[in-house]
Amino acid sequence: MHDTFRVTVSLIKADIGSLAGHHRVFEEQLEVAKAKLKRAKEEGLLIDYFVFNCGDDLQLLMTHTKGENSPDIHRLAWETFKEVTERVSKRLKLYAAGQDLLVEAFSGNIRGMGPGVAEMEIEERPSEPIVVFAADKTEPGAWNLPLFKIFADPFNTAGLVIDPKMHDGFVFEVMDVIEHKVVEIACPEELYDLLALIGTPSRYVIRRVWRKRDRLLTAVASTTRLSLIAGRYVGKDDPVLIIRAQHGLPAVGEILEAFAMPHLVAGWMRGSHHGPLMPVSLKDAKCTRFDGPPRVIALGFQLCHGKLIGPADLFDDPAFDRARMLANQVADYMRQHGPFMPARLGPDEMEYTTLPQVLEKLKERFKPVEE
Ligand code: 13P
Ligand code: 13P
Ligand code: MG
Ligand code: MG
Repeated sequence: MHDTFRVTVSLIKADIGSLAGHHRVFEEQLEVAKAKLKRAKEEGLLIDYFVFNCGDDLQLLMTHTKGENSPDIHRLAWETFKEVTERVSKRLKLYAAGQDLLVEAFSGNIRGMGPGVAEMEIEERPSEPIVVFAADKTEPGAWNLPLFKIFADPFNTAGLVIDPKMHDGFVFEVMDVIEHKVVEIACPEELYDLLALIGTPSRYVIRRVWRKRDRLLTAVASTTRLSLIAGRYVGKDDPVLIIRAQHGLPAVGEILEAFAMPHLVAGWMRGSHHGPLMPVSLKDAKCTRFDGPPRVIALGFQLCHGKLIGPADLFDDPAFDRARMLANQVADYMRQHGPFMPARLGPDEMEYTTLPQVLEKLKERFKPVEE
């Protein structure tokens, strides 16, 4: 028997300004954030932390024993984002300083205030590998396809067929981001119902996944949609995701396999286009061409009494070169469509549009059709 130890893993992220447009977080921003979390660790609030960035999004990975939605942990993240904004982003006139901080004062829970949050309180297993994902220039629905493959597609995840602990399947919690409701769907028996929803990733977003046989919490994703919070364009809500791996759960390699096909996601330039999600190493987690193509990174850790051992930069591997090559080919193809749908998003999904002004200008010139 091993001692039971409950730990919470919190990944809280925000775009609070970046270098060279929406390209990447600046080193000084990372340094200020690291110093702040280092103090919190010394004071005993955090067990451990890892600060990184995916493109222009600053990522605070933290472990602690305060549970999910802890005001102390959320305040720490909020104050870190505020401090970096004031001390670095604004002073250096970085682009879109404080972009995702939608309100002035912290009010107890950072959800709904702009930053993205993925948190899981778990009992640490005798060995606890986790994979942390972060994506730039896309939206939370981007995880739908890979999460489906990882936890419901036996052609992706061999363990669904051959591991007795996974053979019963997984339960998905799907959030309707428009109506603000959630529903649980069990696979494999309700596989088609699940697909009927999550094939519309702009509206139905997988938020959590449990192993069915014992409700072991296995995956949590951020589901903030900034545009819906603010009621106006404030940037895409670049998402994060935490998945537990191995020993009765999908293996790390089964989790990564779902990203070998760079599927189309919404985001890219001005948050208004479809583009391929390119798996990259930390050093390539910065968007360039047409502010993209959208990127995803995967960092592997072992939890050890809450300590974050790692990371392993999992897409830093020639095995993903072909996915990257295909993503570049798809990017070429999609770009040739210019402003035409479906390369450009539909009117409901665009982050902003001139269509009302154009219609207003042409109002008098629209004539009834003569039949
Ligand atoms: P701005 O240059 O007006 O910020 O718009 C372009 C863009 O990058 C959207 O965030
Ligand atoms: P971010 O959401 O990453 O800030 O990107 C905004 C954008 O419009 C890029 O073109
Ligand atoms: Mg940005
Ligand atoms: Mg971003």
